Amino acid sequence: MASNSKTPAYIFSTLLFLLQLHFSAGQTVVKAAYWIPDNGFLVSSIDSTLFTHLFCAFADLNPSTSQVTISSSNSAQFSTFTQTVQQKNPSVKTLLSIGGGDSEASTFASMATQASTRKSFIDSSIKLARSNNFQGLDLDWEQPNTKEQMTNFGSLLNEWRAAVAAESKSSGKAPLLLSAAVFYSSDYYSLIYPIQAISNSLDWLNVMAYDLYTAAANNSPDKTGPPAALYNPTSKVSGDAGIRAWIQAGVAANKLVLGLPFYGHGWRLVNANNHGIFAPANGAASDGLGYGGIKDFITQNSATAVFNSTIVTDYCYAGTTWIGYDDTQSISTKVTYAKGKGLLGYFAWHVGADKNFALSQTASCAWGA
Ligand SMILES: *[C@@H]1O[C@H](CO)[C@@H](O)[C@H](O)[C@H]1NC(C)=O
Repeated sequence: MASNSKTPAYIFSTLLFLLQLHFSAGQTVVKAAYWIPDNGFLVSSIDSTLFTHLFCAFADLNPSTSQVTISSSNSAQFSTFTQTVQQKNPSVKTLLSIGGGDSEASTFASMATQASTRKSFIDSSIKLARSNNFQGLDLDWEQPNTKEQMTNFGSLLNEWRAAVAAESKSSGKAPLLLSAAVFYSSDYYSLIYPIQAISNSLDWLNVMAYDLYTAAANNSPDKTGPPAALYNPTSKVSGDAGIRAWIQAGVAANKLVLGLPFYGHGWRLVNANNHGIFAPANGAASDGLGYGGIKDFITQNSATAVFNSTIVTDYCYAGTTWIGYDDTQSISTKVTYAKGKGLLGYFAWHVGADKNFALSQTASCAWGA
């Protein structure tokens, strides 16, 4: 057919098609949460209408083959994850998350040293995502911790992006999404992330703006603290300082997704009557409680709950137990902050720790449509 025989309607529909292609290439907002199988919260229980993206965590890295695998105990839930969450929300997208805080960082470091092992990782990850119907992949390598590892991390991301683009071309499917979970700041104890590779190769970064204060021996065992402070009058350990560092380092704001913890950290107070933020403490009390568990603790112990708007944190105390966490006011303030800063969105760790979707709902409403 000669080009001059095209009707205006044909041209119009072609333009519309191209426009849609262009739109689908970038995300407009990420309202996300991780799901983990460990706590018995079923995939079918997720209210996926509250999210645009869901992360299924975690796939593992085999240290001897450098291939990504799904453990046999998880395979049934992982392989039906996408189908299950799309029953309530057909447009929700799913990503298979690899690694996690409990996996061996040294396994990732060693995989990333050579092109051949990086290729095993990349090829197996793409195959696994496709065969299990995920629309993306997410890397939780916690944490590249030398200059060389940061460089290798950058090579991995660039090669991953190239392989994802090539696979999309040959399969005719939309390219897999690529994201990575990273430290709250671009500056990891004076080590700088590979900013260029991150910007060029990832759809977005999940900024883990939490676990900033914990009762761990190498953190803050002798003083309570705001685990996921948005602001910090006493130091630059805060979500806002981290986000500003990422932007200053050269990552576009609309590639940043702010992490929200659906859990808290506990301390044992030295004196039950001295219960503020940064009060003297004696290590941990029931560390790492989920939001639902914290709400139950408050009810059962008639604990006092406080929202501190300067720092943007919630905390509660009863007797000598002190827990820092994010309740609805902290969550909505942070989501409003993320939107105001021009970030791409937010993610929660993790959906199963919520209580009747109170925080998920608050976050989604605070961002708006
Ligand atoms: C929040 O806590 C900090 C640290 O204790 C304190 O300086 C500040 O006044 C508190 N803000 C409010 C609104 O209470």
